[in-house]
Amino acid sequence: MIEVKDIKYAYTKEDVALKGVSFTIPENSWVSIIGHNGSGKSTISKLIVGLIEAQSGEIYVDDIKLDQKTANDIRKKVGIVFQNPDNQFVGVDVEHDIAFGLENFQIEHDKMHELVKEFATKVGMIDKLTREPHSLSGGEKQRVAIAGILSLNQKYVILDEATSMLDPEGVEDVVKLIEILRKDYNKTIITITHDLKLASHSDNVIVLKDGKVILNGTPEEVFKEEEILKSSNLTLPFTLELYNNFLHDEYLSNNKELNDILWELHLQR
Ligand SMILES: Nc1ncnc2c1ncn2[C@@H]1O[C@H](COP(=O)(O)OP(=O)(O)O)[C@@H](O)[C@H]1O
Ligand SMILES: [Mg+2]
Repeated sequence: MIEVKDIKYAYTKEDVALKGVSFTIPENSWVSIIGHNGSGKSTISKLIVGLIEAQSGEIYVDDIKLDQKTANDIRKKVGIVFQNPDNQFVGVDVEHDIAFGLENFQIEHDKMHELVKEFATKVGMIDKLTREPHSLSGGEKQRVAIAGILSLNQKYVILDEATSMLDPEGVEDVVKLIEILRKDYNKTIITITHDLKLASHSDNVIVLKDGKVILNGTPEEVFKEEEILKSSNLTLPFTLELYNNFLHDEYLSNNKELNDILWELHLQR
């Protein structure tokens, strides 16, 4: 479990990014953190992986308080994939890219080879191990980056806008991958996104606005709050608008079966 308790963070006196943020990420869950540009999403992810240090508040990862002494151990538990996979490529080919993090963790060669193959297969890149990273599509690059993170066997994986450069099919691939990670690998996933449809698939959604949590609940609960979401510049996809319009009607909103069907429709479209 990750616990974020009343975190405040300012880059400078003027640039206050987080104004007292608290939330919990339960074990083996998929939580999305959403919010418009500048709402503080990336700052929170950098804090959780210990890249920056909060001015006040606490972060606990599996009951260990994050501080300078524990940061290294916590980094072994929490991995992060960023928005632009190009910035994360270092190797001459896909194989070396997936292996890069493992090299840093000083994994022995045979074991490393095995892990690279396992995770390249998992993300559907096993046939492309010798390809140059720059010749890949956006979705393939992101899958390579994800394989690299997965191979490190960290319990928590943060995807910070990792799908924002992907086409709808690429996003769908990542959704499927996330489901596999939770079921087969027992991971806890945090997606940071402004894609409300992606967030709809998660167990919980946390909405940030101007450095504060304004909503926190299941996707169904959070996406009902149309006015609040719109006031934070989050646009609802058409299928969500449709779902919400049905909820406005008293008769329809009491029809649970119909509600479920519409929610499914939203997830699939
Ligand atoms: N390196 C930085 N220096 C100064 N201000 C920053 C820096 N990075 C982010 N900020 C500011 O902190 C706030 C939150 O940014 P960020 O966490 O990147 O938001 P998001 O990821 O939601 O777009 C914004 O107002 C942004 O301008
Ligand atoms: Mg960001």
